[in-house]
Amino acid sequence: MRLAMVKLGILGSGKGSNFASLLAGISSGQIQATVEIVMSDNPHAGILDLARRADIRAEVIHEPRFKTRLSEDVESLVAKTLKSAHVELLVLAGYMRMVKKPLLEAFPRRMINIHPSLLPQFPGLEAWKQALESGASETGCTVHYVDDGMDTGELIAQERVPILPDDTAASLHARIQEAEHRLLPRVVADICQALAS
Ligand code: GRF
Repeated sequence: MRLAMVKLGILGSGKGSNFASLLAGISSGQIQATVEIVMSDNPHAGILDLARRADIRAEVIHEPRFKTRLSEDVESLVAKTLKSAHVELLVLAGYMRMVKKPLLEAFPRRMINIHPSLLPQFPGLEAWKQALESGASETGCTVHYVDDGMDTGELIAQERVPILPDDTAASLHARIQEAEHRLLPRVVADICQALAS
């Protein structure tokens, strides 16, 4: 039996390698979903180019007032746009702003984020640098539900990544990203399966 496809929406601010891992998961049949829309607060983000090249609707979020969040009217518009695209699961794939009430209320327990550490360790920016500077011997990545805190939502799944003696911030981040590209598609596949059944 073929399962119903879950409609995904993606928010991202950067190059979009996690989004690319979701596209690969969809192409291979691992994830039973379609990506309906990609939105970015960064007009130059690679994630928008990736979406356009895949013939997926790509929209820029214009936020002139704040850097770390969206103003309420802009976030309401984003929520409305995602809803009108019939998004059922919203994936934050490298989205660099805090999420507030309009999105939280529009996607209760339907919004997940990928973070480059083993939360609750090292929330916030450049978590791989925080891990390296702490002297820890391992870190990793986490997929979690989004709430109104900074990387505080309920944990869904994690993958561990070793920190090697000669690691730089760049080499460690690259190793964490390899893990992200395994973990995120796996979690999205599981959630889509649960939503469709
Ligand atoms: C990832 O490391 C993710 O964990 C963090 O931002 C980065 C996004 O990378 N939140 P990409 O745009 O998916 O390549």
